[in-house]
Amino acid sequence: MMKCRRCRGPAVVEVRRHNAAFCRDCFLHHVREQVRRAIRAHDMFGPDDRVLVAVSGGKDSLALWDVLLELGYRASGLYLGLGIGDYSSRSAEVVRRFARERRGALEAVGGELVEIDLAQAYGFDIPTAGRKGSRSTCAVCGLSKRYVFNRAALERGYDVVATGHNLDDEAATLLGNTLRWQTDYIARQAPVLPARPGMVRKVKPLYRLSELETAAYSFLRGIDYVVEECPLVAGNTQLRYKEAMNRLEVTSPGTKAQFLLGYLDRAAPLFRAEDAAALTPCRACGQPTTGRFCAFCRARAQVLGLRLEDLAGREEDGERQVARELSEEVLPAELYGGAS
Ligand code: AMP
Ligand code: FES
Ligand code: ZN
Repeated sequence: MMKCRRCRGPAVVEVRRHNAAFCRDCFLHHVREQVRRAIRAHDMFGPDDRVLVAVSGGKDSLALWDVLLELGYRASGLYLGLGIGDYSSRSAEVVRRFARERRGALEAVGGELVEIDLAQAYGFDIPTAGRKGSRSTCAVCGLSKRYVFNRAALERGYDVVATGHNLDDEAATLLGNTLRWQTDYIARQAPVLPARPGMVRKVKPLYRLSELETAAYSFLRGIDYVVEECPLVAGNTQLRYKEAMNRLEVTSPGTKAQFLLGYLDRAAPLFRAEDAAALTPCRACGQPTTGRFCAFCRARAQVLGLRLEDLAGREEDGERQVARELSEEVLPAELYGGAS
């Protein structure tokens, strides 16, 4: 029987990467410590900051919201309804129940659950966008999430948006970006993206914890979460990178952590110069972009069959504008995060 590294009692969870095992209470302590360390090391937010946690209904983001409330942070949740059939309705239900069960803790820190429905707010859902637009479903989904998270936080006066990206997510994204040498994406892959005009700070407090650890945490805390993956991601390249990293991890525990944490420690500074794009307000919605219209408005116009000028509510020289749009190959959406 394995013994808990901290208290020598019977262990229930093994963390091979740390060559350690923990009992229930010491494991929960370990997870909170890893989050606390991440927050402190990168100055993510303080006790007075209002944090908006993007919660999908999956284990990672619910675990994150739970840990932040346990640590006493002013953490609210944001659920974005993507309109992906049963998957979305079940996710919404799980998130609502989580918030109901923590009403007391939320009231104590002035937190709330913010719900936004993409179709209601912006006129399209993700399956439709995948069918009608020129981007892949996952690309337009990622772009929409980053856009809505940022806007929701700005409009409601939050200081920072936190997502549940874990060590496995970040290592897989880094692997994908490295295999293609997307140096601008690599440069922006950080546990913290500082605020810029029109953009709130983005943080990933779970980047030091693996998927197994967040799953074990949720299980031990009795958090009910949606286990199934989004039905639209099947065959997604991100998943293949995750599988590849998992195979390496089996024979060499610690590979993922070395790859990601080693990058953050030693290589990230070398890429920083890449991240210097100038931002101006999108002519349709006012959110920051490197072009005239932001990637979200361009995708939305395409899906809804609208002209960008109509979104902007102003008459412009159509032909010339279209030519410019077509020649504009920068994707400002990626400013909000990785290329996943
Ligand atoms: P994913 O893009 O599905 O890997 O999710 C990455 C992170 O984005 C999650 O850990 C959540 O923090 C957030 N997220 C994903 N989907 C949603 C959603 N529908 N509503 C709110 N947050 C989400
Ligand atoms: Fe975005 Fe499935 S959650 S495509
Ligand atoms: Zn113990």
